[in-house]
Amino acid sequence: MPEESWTVLKLLQWTTDYFQRNNVSEPRTSAEVLLAHVLAEDRLFLYLNYDRPMETNELTAYRACIKRRLGGEPNQYITGLQEFWSLPLRVTPDVLIPRPETEVLVAAVLEFLDKADPNVDILDLGTGSGAIAIALARELPAARIVATDLSMAALRLAQENAKLHDVDQRILFVRGDMFAAIPGGSQRFKVVVTNPPYVSHAEILELPREIRDFEPHHALEGGPDGLAAIRHIIAEAPTVLCQAGALFMEMGADQTESVSALAKDSQHYEDYRIIKDYSKLDRVLVAIKK
Ligand SMILES: C[S@@+](CC[C@H](N)C(=O)[O-])C[C@H]1O[C@@H](n2cnc3c(N)ncnc32)[C@H](O)[C@@H]1O
Repeated sequence: MPEESWTVLKLLQWTTDYFQRNNVSEPRTSAEVLLAHVLAEDRLFLYLNYDRPMETNELTAYRACIKRRLGGEPNQYITGLQEFWSLPLRVTPDVLIPRPETEVLVAAVLEFLDKADPNVDILDLGTGSGAIAIALARELPAARIVATDLSMAALRLAQENAKLHDVDQRILFVRGDMFAAIPGGSQRFKVVVTNPPYVSHAEILELPREIRDFEPHHALEGGPDGLAAIRHIIAEAPTVLCQAGALFMEMGADQTESVSALAKDSQHYEDYRIIKDYSKLDRVLVAIKK
């Protein structure tokens, strides 16, 4: 960025062009998100203040953000924020950036629980930033939620996010490997909801650089065929679900056949179906326990 006097608009135009020339995805949006972050304002502020001159310290901070973005780092790790279910959540490289398609999981759980007892027990397996557990806690004020993860750093952040949204008293965060985090023999959960790692080892290498080089692989990788965690969850969820309780699990759009076969072959589910996401891709398994 040349040394000269800059206004908000001039800076946005320059950065958009610079990002475009350097193949940064969504160049204008990235420029706006990062500038709004540096100014501690929202993007609307930029539109209303195009002529605002930039201070030297602001330019220094913005330059640092541009450099990180140019290196492929996602906007969300630079700003430390991502919205999920209209709730701003803190994100760091310790956790997956919550995706819009995961909101389909939350919507499906809410629909299932519509007519049920509001004092339900819900297990969110692999909570990451806490996105699913926090969204459900906000929507279901009487629900008791257990949120687990293998990563302590993720659990700390999830707890911080829960505090931010005033639901930390209603979510129990537990560290552990899958169902080992849950005391044995307690078939008390009406819902097990999970967005497990489901990308195969080979597919990881083909992911866009932003994901492959910056998001935690333990949150993405589901073994050689992408189904390691999925297989385990379909087999083990019935051990913690109550009768007529349901498993809601996110999956890859190309995993329908394998996931359906796993649910069908398990003797523990009376029914299962696949729900599509907003892009009309198969995304969520719902399996009802016998
Ligand atoms: C795809 S991320 C989902 C994060 C969050 N639920 C979301 O939807 O944004 C998967 C999460 O599962 C956690 N995880 C991976 N293997 C696990 C295991 N064996 N036991 C518990 N959690 C695990 C990862 O640390 C990661 O936070």
